[in-house]
Amino acid sequence: MATGIPHQNQSQGSLKNNSKLSFRLEYEGKVSTEDIFQTPPAQLRCVARVKKQPKSYLVYGENLRVLRTLLDDPNILGKVGLIYIDPPYATGFGFESRNQTHAYNDLIDGADYLEFIRQRLILLREILANHGSIYVHLDEKMAFPVKILMDEIFGAKNFRNWITRKKCNPKNFTRKQYGNISDYILFYTKSDDYVWNQPFESWTDAKAKKEYQYIEEETGRRYKKVPVHAPGQRKGATGQAWKGMLPPPGKHWQYPPEVLDEMDKRGEIYWSPTGNPRRKIYLDNSKGIAVQDIWLEFKDAHNQNIKITGYPTEKNPDLIKRIILASSNPGDLILDAFLGSGTTVAVAEELERQWVGIDNSLLAIKTTIHRLIKGTEAMGDFVNNNGNQPKQESLFNTNRILRRGLDLYLEIASDLEEVPETLIEDWDKQLNFQANLW
Ligand SMILES: C[S@@+](CC[C@H](N)C(=O)[O-])C[C@H]1O[C@@H](n2cnc3c(N)ncnc32)[C@H](O)[C@@H]1O
Repeated sequence: MATGIPHQNQSQGSLKNNSKLSFRLEYEGKVSTEDIFQTPPAQLRCVARVKKQPKSYLVYGENLRVLRTLLDDPNILGKVGLIYIDPPYATGFGFESRNQTHAYNDLIDGADYLEFIRQRLILLREILANHGSIYVHLDEKMAFPVKILMDEIFGAKNFRNWITRKKCNPKNFTRKQYGNISDYILFYTKSDDYVWNQPFESWTDAKAKKEYQYIEEETGRRYKKVPVHAPGQRKGATGQAWKGMLPPPGKHWQYPPEVLDEMDKRGEIYWSPTGNPRRKIYLDNSKGIAVQDIWLEFKDAHNQNIKITGYPTEKNPDLIKRIILASSNPGDLILDAFLGSGTTVAVAEELERQWVGIDNSLLAIKTTIHRLIKGTEAMGDFVNNNGNQPKQESLFNTNRILRRGLDLYLEIASDLEEVPETLIEDWDKQLNFQANLW
């Protein structure tokens, strides 16, 4: 919606006549939904267990097959309250960790990419609870066509926000164009009835003084003045005269005259020298500034004190925290099918949500397990390491994130890097080490 007040009744406009025309994205290789549901399920093997309740799930596997398997699990189908995914972005690159170990390839492009994402979104929608939300993180390359696909899959009416995130500090671009410092998160829900805990930012002193300019003499309370009337038809009590005055043309009082009288008695109406009433809105009644759809405060790791895992394309945990707090409640089940370094599940664990995390990169699973057991480490000055091996870390002095139960599954599939049995034994030992202390 552009700024300004739209007309409610636009019956003469040609747009109204066309409103039933829908549109779809067509491309070669777009398969039927029925075929997607026929995907062969993953064969999963549980290799480690932390026997505590509630229990979360970490899965090393190809996510389409794993999601197809989860459709048959009555504990998961229709039970997931929140999905966050940060898939490949069709960059055309392979990605390595900070110590130059291969992490994953992002080589699928064009229609193949769109179909890759669409198939997973179709299964994800099935898994989502009716009150659930999904956030899809992308950049400018694919966000636009994926938005059209999401309208098809989740319904345009369930689109909630196109969030713009500032992802990094300004760069010195040498190209003839503006610097690129944003990426995007598409937020959809499964229905109108979804979990929503409105996030607010706290007032800074400067912002509060600018917005709430006045101080009430008697009480010292800071306030701002707003009109007592609002646009709309003058029907009923709010269209009647109050203290001998009618609201301006095309407007009505915000409250019936008797309520305005009570507000006036309490000193909540400001009268201008010319006798114009204004309502006082007090700063101390404000929960803060409602969060909008441009997020500037969640850049990814950008200085040496920030704690990271070293996995490439790792997202800022505070960004995920905002999403989880806004769109889920403690105890809800959260799913990330492109888990990477495990940011979503680490934050979910800290916020006492249950979770499912899936990735087909062995490095991603190794990194996530290490993160759950030991936490993250300050980015530090990596270039001065002089090729020295990092010192062997003790399991004590740990910033362990995992507090509750966990089942670790591996998919049995020929297209995945094999996991040595010694590594599995080590994971089991480490995940269970001190698990009962919490
Ligand atoms: C952009 S990274 C996710 C980063 C993550 N948000 C974080 O904070 O670390 C994308 C991840 O998706 C995984 N991935 C890509 N295709 C996949 C597939 N078909 N099945 C499972 N995981 C996949 C990659 O291995 C990679 O770890």
